[in-house]
Amino acid sequence: MLSKAWKNVLFGLLLCSLSSAHSHHDHEHEDIPIERRQELLAKWEQEFTFTGISTFAHLPHVKCLLDPSVTYDIAIIGAPFDNAVSYRPGARFGPRAIRAASARQMPATSYNTRAAINPYLNWAKIIDCGDIPITPFDNAVAERQMYEAFLELGSRKVHNPAAGRGGISQGKPKLITLGGDHSIALPALRALYKIYGKPITVLHFDAHLDTWNPVRYNAYWASAQARFNHGSVFHVASQEGLISNTSSAHAGLRTRLTGVDDGDYTNPGPEQGFLRIHADDIDDVGVKGVVETIVNRVGIDEDEPVYLSLDIDVLDPSIAPGTGTPEPGGWTTRELIRILRGVEGLNIVGADIVEVSPAYDSNAEGTALAAAQMVFEIITSMVKMGAKGDVGGWYGRKEGDVEKEQEVAEGKKDEL
Ligand SMILES: *[C@@H]1O[C@H](CO)[C@@H](O)[C@H](O)[C@H]1NC(C)=O
Repeated sequence: MLSKAWKNVLFGLLLCSLSSAHSHHDHEHEDIPIERRQELLAKWEQEFTFTGISTFAHLPHVKCLLDPSVTYDIAIIGAPFDNAVSYRPGARFGPRAIRAASARQMPATSYNTRAAINPYLNWAKIIDCGDIPITPFDNAVAERQMYEAFLELGSRKVHNPAAGRGGISQGKPKLITLGGDHSIALPALRALYKIYGKPITVLHFDAHLDTWNPVRYNAYWASAQARFNHGSVFHVASQEGLISNTSSAHAGLRTRLTGVDDGDYTNPGPEQGFLRIHADDIDDVGVKGVVETIVNRVGIDEDEPVYLSLDIDVLDPSIAPGTGTPEPGGWTTRELIRILRGVEGLNIVGADIVEVSPAYDSNAEGTALAAAQMVFEIITSMVKMGAKGDVGGWYGRKEGDVEKEQEVAEGKKDEL
């Protein structure tokens, strides 16, 4: 059951959405007594996981781009664009698939045990801003549309200015973008660079480097527009000075390189601004080792903004086949979830989850489900880090846990 306080919050949200959706009819609502509204809410507000119009985690949907008065602390935004892929298309349907697969997450039933919070019922106002209507006909225009949309949404006032983590992101909303192919990260980074006024640290989960110099695709036909593609995102971003060369990291790599040597790895240039963690490394150092390597590289500093860019192809295609550029030998869903949980302390100011291409997924929606779960974990960490005080959870021990762990270690107890 929801607490009374939360019912009031939800009721407030409902009133807001009614009034913003129908502000031109406001006079029609004036005579409706509050008791009647409360009765309807009591009767019909509680949904089932399989009911309702598809929004991310049943969150309220607002067309944020159309209404500058809409505020939020965290917003989901879809970027259904896949005109910049090098292999399979279809990621324009990613936002729809991820939203549909997120249906088992409802705000009222999403307590996250590892974090000891329900991210949807905590301090943050989280909404689904819908999709950016991106043209499929002109990539130069698409690039600009995305930049303008990310800048618009990322520059809004937050809903709870006093809440949040503190540091450089205080008072700034956080966007989580559902892709779309990976090219969408370039306009997102341009917008973040503008908003934060400094290079952004990129934590990049992917089978591929995505730092390819665009001439490596086809030097003869290289063009200014061809630079905007899903494999050159971080090359271009680095050349534009948008990303930090000293704290960014790739994780989950297992790509083949171009040419006859390892030049993609060793040539000097913007490609080298990343620390590389390979998919195989997990066998040697374990999840914990991967987490430590990331945290040591990226650093936990509330004044250094981090963008988390998650290409679903970091997972093995046996688990997540519904993607544009599959590479065998990837991580499992469980491993990736644990890595995300392990890096919860990073100062993530924005994130994307890209390259979900549902046409190649199975009927069981495994790829989209994995993506929806990753978004849940990222939102959880954003909310948890902004919650004042230590809320505990699996990775932030609660009072008494240390003693219990000691007893387990001494064999006095079987488990925690
Ligand atoms: C990172 O390195 C590239 C290539 O040397 C350079 O163009 C870019 O400006 C650097 N970025 C920053 C933020 O220093």
